[in-house]
Amino acid sequence: MAIHSILKMGDPRLLRLAQPITEFGTAGLHQQVQDLWDTMQAASGAGLAAPQIGIDLQLVVFGSEDRNLRYPDRPLVPPTVLINPTITPLGDSEEEDWEGCLSVPGLRAKVPRWSRIRYQGFDVYGAPIDRSVDGFHARVVQHECDHLWGTLYPMRVRDFRQFGYVDAML
Ligand code: NI
Repeated sequence: MAIHSILKMGDPRLLRLAQPITEFGTAGLHQQVQDLWDTMQAASGAGLAAPQIGIDLQLVVFGSEDRNLRYPDRPLVPPTVLINPTITPLGDSEEEDWEGCLSVPGLRAKVPRWSRIRYQGFDVYGAPIDRSVDGFHARVVQHECDHLWGTLYPMRVRDFRQFGYVDAML
């Protein structure tokens, strides 16, 4: 069990385009995945991307078998390891909802996302993943994959009146 510190916004490692993974099923990759889960769970996150713990690879984990402390009212998302992902919007419908990020502690904003997406990629063994999802599941995937492309949610905020500190929001 290895809980890593999470890089915070301002760290240039969060702004890189992460490298694709070329070897699957290795001991090193399994260890990185476990470290991501451990760190995500310790921080009560809904997801975590490898760049957030300083690993320059296209690897994210998200979802939970249990209710999440930070998002207790949100639908469950199946625990997923997603590697080298691509996202295709299904239709052009967008929706705004609240997001936070472990790399932007204490803050929340309303962020526009595609309502429905298809996401593709690979699991830790290199088996393909291909899902079409909507709602909170689609939002989490878009948020986590953004980390692989050097994008943090504040960069997508349109209405900065809906951006602030959680403990100041009523
Ligand atoms: Ni994040």
